[in-house]
Amino acid sequence: MPLTPRVTESRAPSTSPGGAEPPGDHDLVVEAALARLDLDTKVRLLAGQDLWTLPALPEIGLDSLVMSDGPVGVRGAAWSADDPSLCLPSPTALAATWDPALARRAGRVLAQEAHRKGAHMLLAPTVNLHRSPLGGRHFEAYSEDPLLTGRIGTGYVTGVQESGIAATVKHFVANDAETERFTVDNRVPARALRELYLAPFEAIVRDARPWALMSAYNGVNGATMTEHRALQTGVLREEWGFDGVVVSDWLAARDTVGAIEGGLDVAMPGPATVFGPALAAAVRDGRVAESTVDTAVRHILLLAARLGLLRGAAPAVPSGRRPAPLDGPAVAREIAARSFVLLRDPAGTLPLDASAAPSIALIGRAARDARFLGGGSATVYPARVVSPLDGLTGALPEGSRLTYAMGADPNDQLEVAAAGFTLRAVLRDAQGAALAEQPLALGRVRWMDAALPDGVGYDSLATVEITGTFTPRDTGTHHFGTAGTGDFRLTVDGTVLYDGADPEGGDPMEVLTGRPIPRGTAALEAGRTVEVSLLHRAPKLAYGPIRGVTFGLTHRDPERDGDRLIEEAVAAARAADTAVVVVATTERVESEGFDRTDLRLPGRQDELVSRVAAANARTVVVVNAGAPVEMPWREDVAAILLTWFPGQEGGAALADVLLGREEPGGRLPTTWPARLADAPVTRVTPEDGVLPYDEDLFVGYRAWERHTTAPAYPFGHGLGYTTWEYVSLEAADGRARVRLRNTGTRPGRETVQLYAEPVTPAEGRPARQLAGFTTVTAAPGETVETEIALADRTFQVWDEAATAWTVAPGPYLLHAARDANAPVLTIRLSTPGRP
Ligand code: BGC
Repeated sequence: MPLTPRVTESRAPSTSPGGAEPPGDHDLVVEAALARLDLDTKVRLLAGQDLWTLPALPEIGLDSLVMSDGPVGVRGAAWSADDPSLCLPSPTALAATWDPALARRAGRVLAQEAHRKGAHMLLAPTVNLHRSPLGGRHFEAYSEDPLLTGRIGTGYVTGVQESGIAATVKHFVANDAETERFTVDNRVPARALRELYLAPFEAIVRDARPWALMSAYNGVNGATMTEHRALQTGVLREEWGFDGVVVSDWLAARDTVGAIEGGLDVAMPGPATVFGPALAAAVRDGRVAESTVDTAVRHILLLAARLGLLRGAAPAVPSGRRPAPLDGPAVAREIAARSFVLLRDPAGTLPLDASAAPSIALIGRAARDARFLGGGSATVYPARVVSPLDGLTGALPEGSRLTYAMGADPNDQLEVAAAGFTLRAVLRDAQGAALAEQPLALGRVRWMDAALPDGVGYDSLATVEITGTFTPRDTGTHHFGTAGTGDFRLTVDGTVLYDGADPEGGDPMEVLTGRPIPRGTAALEAGRTVEVSLLHRAPKLAYGPIRGVTFGLTHRDPERDGDRLIEEAVAAARAADTAVVVVATTERVESEGFDRTDLRLPGRQDELVSRVAAANARTVVVVNAGAPVEMPWREDVAAILLTWFPGQEGGAALADVLLGREEPGGRLPTTWPARLADAPVTRVTPEDGVLPYDEDLFVGYRAWERHTTAPAYPFGHGLGYTTWEYVSLEAADGRARVRLRNTGTRPGRETVQLYAEPVTPAEGRPARQLAGFTTVTAAPGETVETEIALADRTFQVWDEAATAWTVAPGPYLLHAARDANAPVLTIRLSTPGRP
């Protein structure tokens, strides 16, 4: 057998743009700038001047620093479809690639977007853990495993920062669920805090030297994170050597003295924050030392210097040294295909044979109206979205047959007005005179920081009207509503459907993104155009320091008869060679600001899959969700392909994978339970404000191992289109060598996973832990060899009494494995990490 020596490293890229700075240079410029600032100016720099920016200080040659969410795209300040952004696959998808180098390219492409949009600091990546599948922002975090999370995060941060943009690792720390997220006190045992929740932050600080980090809303062990001196100053700065900026999560800074003494540098958003004038007053009356303020200002000036925003300081990455530009949509498509996890395909139904001009029944609401990202602050508005229907339509060869049926509509909520609507916003003053008009891509306006279209003055604005026409696709009872808070009049086809006001309240994400509220119905005919108008009579939002205008017109098509929809889909499936059913969660299921209460697919999708599978033995189910869902039909279908939230090019990547142009490259970054009831950690709701992490270290596969039930699919699981034989496993000097052979007929990619397991189980210690991983590619029949560094931390435990890491004595078993439950080769290591 030919042996191609191909040595790959599992370690994430360690080149650090932070480390590439000329030592000392920035310090001198920073000190000189600091010396020229008086107290009032310094405290101004520690607070947002608006939702996304810090103030410019022309007197010291400091430009305004602009921040933007993250993590799948760079939304920019506008937060609207009128200023589109590239949209990559969601973080669970990126982690499913198990490829830090690909994450690095994601980071580069996003930095490119940041430069294009005038942003300097990307509020990403999210490296909290998948503690429970119920976590509402599960889709936005990487994995249940800290090593995988840290490596993917390191790749991402490296890619962003080597392109001259600051990454902001968030949310420090233990922001693993959403319920009562502002106030919850997570009680995390010391070892779990170090070995699980802090571990990705530690790895990223060590390996990628991030320039910024975001402090979380929640508390940990009795102290709210923005005031947590032990973690923000003690662990982060003094122990790990972090030299970047600590920025609060939005509205998370609550106490002037507590936050500045606790190690917070910037309170966002502004203009009204606990820093600024309140901090100057605290210095003047002796509650805070000015040197403490200086420390925070130094951090910001250093960040500005790195970004090239401070006169006299060379940026860490001069524009001529940025990596070559990447093709954003091509990267989005590549990551998507590399992230798709083929969970099951016992009869080899996939890939479909494109050359045989297949006949496919494509079924599902999300097959037509793509669900490409998770909701909340991660939302971006791409210029185009390729749905599964678009992707397959474009990819199938001449003579193929593709039919579409909705089958079931999981969305029982109104959605922002889109298909069939032609809308504009009209801004008026108190006398009713029009100040400006702006066309709208969707039925939503979101003008933040009082920045209105065409420079309209915030004070002169009295009303905003979303108005235009609607041409329905279907005849029947259409539902209309509002999103956002305030005083509205909604008129459709000459009839006033609603006239009234709602108070503000709730989570800021709810206020900003606006839960759709049904307001009335109208009987409309397909093809007959009607006038629509949503007048907002008190449009100026004042939520804490947030000023702006944010509301929307929402709509829902007439409800179709559910039985009829399923019957149509079954008939389509029967008439085709292959049925492809796309099942999905909705924005009301996976988003920010709330947790899930169950793992069921919404609506009648489970019934739809069962009925279609009964009608067509070749039923392929595409699971379009950012986090685990129950799949009671999983043994009854031919194949299951998990596509996560696949970003704007998801439909094109789906066609690539279904038709075999690409292999599904993903492996589960998190264990997939068969039922919520089986999941080891299901508690995300605090009691009396406290959420105990009682499971301690037993999260994810660490917990499933000692469980009586098996998961539906284990951590690390995923199939490709070829087969592999693991030939040998050796280890020496903290590194393992694995040889494996592609035994199939197609070129392929394999994710090689190493797990370490103490030979003698230790009480309170997980049996098996990920120790390293890498991906390899090989041609049919080819044998490849790969070298993987074993992660030191896998062989260490946190000794709380000594407040230090100690090596946990061996001997260990080292497994080369296809997933956490499937060791293929095992050797013994006599001492940790050594043979
Ligand atoms: C989220 C952060 C986000 C910030 C700004 C917060 O609600 O938790 O992740 O960066 O809003 O949008």
